[in-house]
Amino acid sequence: MKGVKLPLLWENDKLKLIDQRKLPLEETYVEYDTHEGAFDGIKLMVVRGAPLIGFTGLYGMVLYAQNHPKSSVEDFNKAADYLNTARPTAVNLSYELNRTKELAKNYFDKNGTLEGVREDLLTLAKESFDRLGRDNLAMAQSALKELESLYGDRKLNVITLCNTGYLACGPMGTALGVIAHLHENNRIEHVYASETRPYLQGGRLTAYELCQLNVPHSIIVEGSFSYLMKTKKIDAIFIGADRIVLNGDTANKVGSSTLSIVAKRYGVPFYVVAPTSSFDFDAKTGSEIEIEMRPEEEILSCQGVRIAPMQSTALNPSFDVTDHEDIAAIFCEKGMIKNPNTEEVTRVCL
Ligand code: MRU
Repeated sequence: MKGVKLPLLWENDKLKLIDQRKLPLEETYVEYDTHEGAFDGIKLMVVRGAPLIGFTGLYGMVLYAQNHPKSSVEDFNKAADYLNTARPTAVNLSYELNRTKELAKNYFDKNGTLEGVREDLLTLAKESFDRLGRDNLAMAQSALKELESLYGDRKLNVITLCNTGYLACGPMGTALGVIAHLHENNRIEHVYASETRPYLQGGRLTAYELCQLNVPHSIIVEGSFSYLMKTKKIDAIFIGADRIVLNGDTANKVGSSTLSIVAKRYGVPFYVVAPTSSFDFDAKTGSEIEIEMRPEEEILSCQGVRIAPMQSTALNPSFDVTDHEDIAAIFCEKGMIKNPNTEEVTRVCL
């Protein structure tokens, strides 16, 4: 991505994360030199978005190895397990941390020490980051092909939810990567970016990215999904994923499931875009996915100002599970999983 401030940088042996809590009004970085710092960055939402949370976990373990060159394998694994508790729903975090554990085990088996493992972890982190850029492009290309088969070369109106662009992924985005690719190919009429209450990843971050890409867009509220599909010609919906299980059920930002149900009612294809690092093949159905409950304060207040009555409480599930039957297709780097179910996910991915 040229000319944009990348959300994650590795500079002078430190991890730098753009503070996504402050975007779009401030573009500042927070620096971390310990894995505990990386944990806080994830927990406090300085960094968010499934793939980028995973990469932060990877760099967190580089920081651990840097600060603990004489670590035992057991302590290394403990540090990875600790990082894994920062946020529960996005499987990318445990996926990447498990890879660091495997790498450390193999390194120890070969060298009898973890001294020097930092270099290999750094290579793993850099390669994973670059590979996601290539994978995202492959997903965007297969989505473009699918849309061409449905709509020819006309321009499209699309809806997206939450933020799935480079801020959530590092190199290029997943669902927003598709939208950017469609725009580059002159196929976007208008994007409706759902604001994504209460954290406003859509209204703040997706809108920020769409402005940078010069994509015509409007911010909408989640309550307007039915209005939009009834009155505007919506051609497709693109969302990302935090965890996709074996039967194709998909956890993503709360509101995604509602969007999929309304889309089915109006016959609008609902697409999920995610790399295989967002798949959890050990879980068979969406009922096995842990849904993160976030602080009530995010709903009761806005920008630090209380808006609800002092005696009110709130319930803040951060994700929901979209039923695979409501998904037209999942695009991953291995191809398109049309009408996803256990058989199709297994056929394309395993
Ligand atoms: O709570 P967040 O902001 O981390 O949630 C992010 C999302 O739900 C994204 O849509 C998802 O991680 C896919 S990112 C490519």
